[in-house]
Amino acid sequence: MSDRQAEPHTPVLPEEVIRYLQPQPGSTVVDCTLGNGGHYLHILKLLGDEGLGVGIDKDPLAIENVRRRIERSHSVPASVRLIEGNFGELLPLLHQAQIPPSGGILLDLGPSSSQLFDPRLGMSWESDEALDMRLDRNADAKSAGDIINEWTEEELTRLFREQGEEKWSRRIAQRIVRDRAEAAITTGRQLGEIVAGAIPHKAWPPKTHPATRVFMALRMEVNCELDNLRAVLPQAVEALAPGGRLVVISFHSIEDRIVKRFLREMAEPTDQAPWPLPQTAGVTPRLKILTRRPVTASAEEVASNPRSRSAKLRAAEKPKSAPAGDTKAG
Ligand SMILES: C[S@@+](CC[C@H](N)C(=O)[O-])C[C@H]1O[C@@H](n2cnc3c(N)ncnc32)[C@H](O)[C@@H]1O
Repeated sequence: MSDRQAEPHTPVLPEEVIRYLQPQPGSTVVDCTLGNGGHYLHILKLLGDEGLGVGIDKDPLAIENVRRRIERSHSVPASVRLIEGNFGELLPLLHQAQIPPSGGILLDLGPSSSQLFDPRLGMSWESDEALDMRLDRNADAKSAGDIINEWTEEELTRLFREQGEEKWSRRIAQRIVRDRAEAAITTGRQLGEIVAGAIPHKAWPPKTHPATRVFMALRMEVNCELDNLRAVLPQAVEALAPGGRLVVISFHSIEDRIVKRFLREMAEPTDQAPWPLPQTAGVTPRLKILTRRPVTASAEEVASNPRSRSAKLRAAEKPKSAPAGDTKAG
């Protein structure tokens, strides 16, 4: 496997992540989205000799790259555990690796810049490689090319509208179905041109490629991003030690809504929790929200790292013990 260095990834909200996660010397912190290791390496330094930093990623190349970065670095005091896997199965992964309850869990969602521009993953409208987008090349998962060439016009319209929040969904889907009848759509570049051609020029977004939303919707679908997010949140609460903190950074309004609802449900439980409630919590509330409003990037950060523009950070803490008189179990 070769290094992936073409497009470096700058971690978003780096100071805010540390402020909310508060990695304590000697504790265990799990970074569920290792990526290029930007947040992870920073956290490792704060954990000290006795600490344990667990890094998870479903992309084997991300794991490999961070392993090399750590080998090259001479300033990593904490113990390092890198795990290739899907954070949607967080508890089994941690259990298998015998990781103790964590003082902090970080989720920095979406792909890294390195992945977005790695032509081998086929996530970009500039890619001439196969339209794939699978981060883990899981044999069971459909590729973006499968979806584009097999789904009906109705299904494509719904995907672009609901996950991409794309106004021109119907026209784009119609154009895809028309063009693929002549020849299969096999590369990102082909798809990008079809989508751009389906949207009236005067409606193109000023700062982004007109196919951005369609590519985002496809990537989210191929990698089951929303399902994995819904799956990981209750597991993260369970994996936290009392007093431990959960920090989630999302880039999409649907993701942020899921996180916001989940945290609210854990802080003020109702009878309609759309999630399986964490079993070990046994106390109410199961989380204390630390960010009433999402934390966003400063103007300076947005100027130097445009990817941070849509980042929203939310954080919560698992209570140390049940409030007096509270015996309501989960
Ligand atoms: C935005 S990047 C993280 C960047 C990282 N915080 C840094 O500073 O370099 C997100 C990472 O999460 C990984 N990822 C996305 N979905 C995942 C999942 N369900 N399970 C494990 N890793 C996942 C991606 O492969 C990607 O490397």
